[in-house]
Amino acid sequence: MIRQDQDNVSRQRAPKRWRQSCVHNECSLHQLAPYIGKIKSSIARELIATYSKPGDLVVDPFAGAGTIPLEAAIQGRIAFAADISPYARVLSQAKLSPPVALETALQNAEDALAEAQILPLPDLTSIPRWVRCFFHPRTLSESLQFASVVRRVGNEFLMACFLGILHHQRPGFLSFPSSHLVPYLRDKKYPRTAYPEMYGYRALRPRLLSKVRRAYKRFQNPNSIGVSVCQSSVETLNFPSRFDAVITSPPYMNALDYARDNRLRLWFIDPTLAEPVENDVSRRRQAFVDAMISLAKRLRDGLKRRGYCIFVVGEEVHRSFNAHPADVIISIMNDQSRCIRLMKVLTDSIPDVRRTRRECQGVKTEYFLIFQRS
Ligand SMILES: C[S@@+](CC[C@H](N)C(=O)[O-])C[C@H]1O[C@@H](n2cnc3c(N)ncnc32)[C@H](O)[C@@H]1O
Repeated sequence: MIRQDQDNVSRQRAPKRWRQSCVHNECSLHQLAPYIGKIKSSIARELIATYSKPGDLVVDPFAGAGTIPLEAAIQGRIAFAADISPYARVLSQAKLSPPVALETALQNAEDALAEAQILPLPDLTSIPRWVRCFFHPRTLSESLQFASVVRRVGNEFLMACFLGILHHQRPGFLSFPSSHLVPYLRDKKYPRTAYPEMYGYRALRPRLLSKVRRAYKRFQNPNSIGVSVCQSSVETLNFPSRFDAVITSPPYMNALDYARDNRLRLWFIDPTLAEPVENDVSRRRQAFVDAMISLAKRLRDGLKRRGYCIFVVGEEVHRSFNAHPADVIISIMNDQSRCIRLMKVLTDSIPDVRRTRRECQGVKTEYFLIFQRS
């Protein structure tokens, strides 16, 4: 439970409408590719509308899938997105600077497919076994050729579309039957002998072009003027010198493992990346504290007067932590940036259907900590 000893802080439950699904009316760019622990776009939209104005520079230093920056850009704010993860950079960049029209996106896709097709065939024996086991060899060859073209800077939209169809059990995806969010083969549920059609060759071209079309189904053009997307840890990030608002959800301490859960997509973005292993709970807690101290100092230096800072914080119930992460943030903000005061706390319980791992003891309630500079 979050501490009750903060004076003059309004405490409310989040509006009931935040529980409603938004997947059928949100901008389709939000559905380019999955990302664990992403905020609902309807919540991001309301936070931006309430706590910033058109033309404001809105910073999200833990941008993840780019949900908050995309909603900011759709509402005419200037979006500044950063995240430590290369996958988050690709997704955020793709959403914030997509081709202006479906026809352009389809033409870009055809050009990249044609360029990939004339590349030499890759040597599949050099591909790690854990990657190979997800794909038919011909699908894997096409995917490797295509990834090597769209890995180049400027092709993030196509890379994101490709990563969005990388693994699932449905026919529109490239892998053998597997889960969508986190890459696990579902060969026990769908054994090869009983479902041979699920283990055949899956051509990349028709699947990619359908994915591009889906991205433009409910397209809303984001404001691309002044947009910045950086791959950086918050500690080393070059913040803008002055900004109007920060709206962000810091990593949930110990609850989600972004590198492990995105491992297949990360491998296609950069096969040379060493697999980051970060399982030590106390090290993670310290990393969270360090990141938040660094962010609080940047807020003190750069947040404009009357500007808001919103943290969306997951509940952490792991016994090895002696304080709730929301309390950790409140206390760090008190120590590092006294001029930025906590005004309001909203709580929202996360129904099981929205949780990544239904049985886990992890994030059950989200806290929205609303700070304002005096
Ligand atoms: C809760 S997620 C953000 C989700 C995001 N709001 C969305 O809608 O997708 C937290 C993010 O923090 C990133 N992260 C973890 N440690 C970081 C650090 N030290 N600096 C910057 N980003 C970090 C993770 O890669 C992850 O994407």
